[in-house]
Amino acid sequence: MIDSCQRDNRPKSTARRRAALALAAVGLLAAGGAVVLPVAASAGTTLGASAAERGRYFGAAVAANKLSDSAYTTILNREFNSVTPENEMKIDATEPQQGQFTFTNADRIVSHARSRGMSVRGHTLAWHSQQPGWMQNMSGSALRQAMLNHVTQVATHFRGQVVAWDVVNEAFADGSTGARRDSNLQRTGNDWIEAAFRAARAADPGAKLCYNDYNTDDWTHAKTQAVYNMVRDFKQRGVPIDCVGLQSHFNSGSPYPANYRTTLSSFAALGVDVQITELDIQNAPADTYRNVVNDCLAVSRCTGITVWGIRDSDSWRADQNPLLFTSSGAKKPAYDAVLAALNGGTTPTTPPTTPPTTGPTTPPPGGSCTATLRDGTRWGDRFNSEVTVSGASNWTVVVAVTPPQKVSATWNGTPSWDSSGNVMTMRSNGSGNVFGFTTMANGNWTRPQVRSCTAS
Ligand code: G3I
Repeated sequence: MIDSCQRDNRPKSTARRRAALALAAVGLLAAGGAVVLPVAASAGTTLGASAAERGRYFGAAVAANKLSDSAYTTILNREFNSVTPENEMKIDATEPQQGQFTFTNADRIVSHARSRGMSVRGHTLAWHSQQPGWMQNMSGSALRQAMLNHVTQVATHFRGQVVAWDVVNEAFADGSTGARRDSNLQRTGNDWIEAAFRAARAADPGAKLCYNDYNTDDWTHAKTQAVYNMVRDFKQRGVPIDCVGLQSHFNSGSPYPANYRTTLSSFAALGVDVQITELDIQNAPADTYRNVVNDCLAVSRCTGITVWGIRDSDSWRADQNPLLFTSSGAKKPAYDAVLAALNGGTTPTTPPTTPPTTGPTTPPPGGSCTATLRDGTRWGDRFNSEVTVSGASNWTVVVAVTPPQKVSATWNGTPSWDSSGNVMTMRSNGSGNVFGFTTMANGNWTRPQVRSCTAS
């Protein structure tokens, strides 16, 4: 059960809580000017709002030339709280001639998204494919420099507007070798990937930096293991990497694997977020879509899901009808399954891949527990945080935000505040051991701090 409160520990019905949240958001609008309505005002009825209540985003790949199609934008604006430009940020689109950058179409998508409170994933800074002709003809140190300049210029242009970048895309080969893919970029030296990540970090220190690939969903596959080993190596050596994107284009030749959750949790255990970045499934079976969502929800560092298009007719594989909406814009059974899963209404059909834990879970009253805070979705004006409590089933956690930040919504706990309004005491309310909250940044993006965790 999701709980969402406004500095009020009286029990409320879900509808009343959501109404209170919407009213509070209107108040913020009146007081602060350009504050976007928190998406939770319509929680439970759209993909983005329901995902936000689980501390996650639900996004779609968007094409600039479809923003004039009102049937398309009606669904986009209603359902999604994250956007990935499908082609408009790629190298051929943004630097068609060397040193001449074109951001018009990408800017249109970013503006459309951010003006509606949606976050933006950037795709992609360095890739062997969709290179402009001038880059395809380059090699060696000239290509390395050109690639790094591209990363720097594009990440700088979108600094502060893109929450996560697919810095490098599809750099590993298919098959059983686990080798890097041969490409002109790879031939500049094996360190081209980490060089790209360092350039991206320098250009936009606030963006999460992801490695993104396909056929990396099955934990047993050599390609998955190769990417895993690279990410582990990067973390050990301090190469700046924050997330791994699993494209997750599933079809009969590359089906959803039963060990998908193991893949998600294994990457997450390296200390990176995991994002499902390009989801589509041949014929859109509702059960498989449900399994994917439940797998993401089961892994706390799986921070969001993006479907690769909105209607079947928008898909790069339109003949496979792989998306959540028909070509005429109707919701498909897969849509209902995804929404229900986000709302916690279904039981996963895949068995958990880790055994349930056993042993005592209730320490004596007054004992300590551990509360771990992790960053959730970030919008232009606010961000989510999620706190996982271990060592107690009844707990009290004290969290502080930095003025002028204000907590605008909470879920899965009963909050109260001190007189300053900046220190929140959250008590368990039977909703489990993970609670969350949304912080209005008001210009300050400091991470909230956990001050204490007490078993009660
Ligand atoms: O816009 C032109 C149009 O003017 C022209 O008439 C037509 C003729 O071919 O091409 C159109 O551009 C196409 C573009 O999609 C827009 O539809 C390109 O040819 C075509 O190559 C391009 O395909 C994109 C593909 O990446 C290119 O690699 C797909 O839209 C896009 O969905 C797909 O996305 C990739 C991700 O970036 C990485 N992961 C795999 C995923 C699916 O392939």
